[in-house]
Amino acid sequence: MSESIKAIVYHAHGKPEEVLRLEEQPLPQPALDEALVRMLAAPINPADLNAIEGKYPIRPELPATPGMEGVGVVVEIGDRVRDLAIGTRVILPHNLGTWREACVVPAARLVAVPNEIEPAQAAMLKINPLTAWRMLHDFVALQPGDWVIQNAANSAAGRAVIQISRELDYRTVNVVRRAELIEELRTEGGDAVLLDDDNLRAATAGATAGAPIRLALNAVGGESALRLAKIVAPEATIVTYGAMSLRPLTLPNGLLIFKNLHFTGFWINKWYDQATPAARQEAFARIFDFARRGLLQSKIERTYPLGEFHAAVARAAEGMRAGKIIFRMEAKNVGVAFARR
Ligand SMILES: NC(=O)c1ccc[n+]([C@@H]2O[C@H](COP(=O)([O-])OP(=O)(O)OC[C@H]3O[C@@H](n4cnc5c(N)ncnc54)[C@H](OP(=O)(O)O)[C@@H]3O)[C@@H](O)[C@H]2O)c1
Repeated sequence: MSESIKAIVYHAHGKPEEVLRLEEQPLPQPALDEALVRMLAAPINPADLNAIEGKYPIRPELPATPGMEGVGVVVEIGDRVRDLAIGTRVILPHNLGTWREACVVPAARLVAVPNEIEPAQAAMLKINPLTAWRMLHDFVALQPGDWVIQNAANSAAGRAVIQISRELDYRTVNVVRRAELIEELRTEGGDAVLLDDDNLRAATAGATAGAPIRLALNAVGGESALRLAKIVAPEATIVTYGAMSLRPLTLPNGLLIFKNLHFTGFWINKWYDQATPAARQEAFARIFDFARRGLLQSKIERTYPLGEFHAAVARAAEGMRAGKIIFRMEAKNVGVAFARR
């Protein structure tokens, strides 16, 4: 009898806990240019939940499997595949659906990831750390000692901003909505960790001794984004990359007229689509180098098997988590050790 695999599937858009199903599918076979990958781990990111709900700019053909990032092991390759060995651990491309036990992928679209990086961490490198890296490089020519301000600083993306900034000698004002995170993020390397409230402007001025802040990173929107805009220096750039509060950004006209602030956005999907293979390779090389040295560790609240997807997506949709929610697949016979959690 041919082998089957489990995959999470949705046939219509809607609330994840209502539309997701766990289905049995035949084990796919790689075509000539493809590799068969057994999945090891895949996180639940906010964008995955948005995509299931149909509230994301990319709408896959249905039925679809969710999951925009994840890591697996190559277990079989098509006859025309060169430069990719069986046993290579790989990061999967964006639009495939990673919440499944196995998939076939064009070999050229896989990114080999060093084995020293623990699988659950490797599964989370492609979106948040790369986003943090790009936002710190592509908008403002920061110099060592410069300040950056960000909200949702305890998110996976925010923690990556802290860790990369620390390595590059940038200083960070990290804005959070929970006081209990202040000590933790300071220990992780945040120079200032402040509460997202009406005192933020004065607290920032105190923490930075009034130094100009030329880059703000906004993943929240609404009042929180407006606070950042009021704090940054004239001519500063505010990069919006998330909208966790679901509130629109409303600005007093004077912030544009008198401060000439630059509002722009960032979307990692677009960066991947437009980057040259060399640029992608270089960015991954830097990220892998950080990860090998034990940096860019995303905090994990809990890992779940695919079969517990109801509980996993329900928890991932809640705020105030202690870290990421991750699917961990029991890839058969691939000899990969996970950190205990
Ligand atoms: N544009 C891109 O290419 C790109 C790439 C990566 C990430 N993102 C976006 O970046 C954001 C963070 O992603 P992530 O994976 O790092 O997130 P995450 O680790 O899952 O953390 C979620 C963060 O959002 C905060 N949050 C949740 N609900 C909120 C609300 N109503 N108001 C204010 N803050 C709220 C949480 O704060 P608490 O812990 O206090 O709840 C936490 O800091 C998401 O919007 C994601 O879509 C965008």
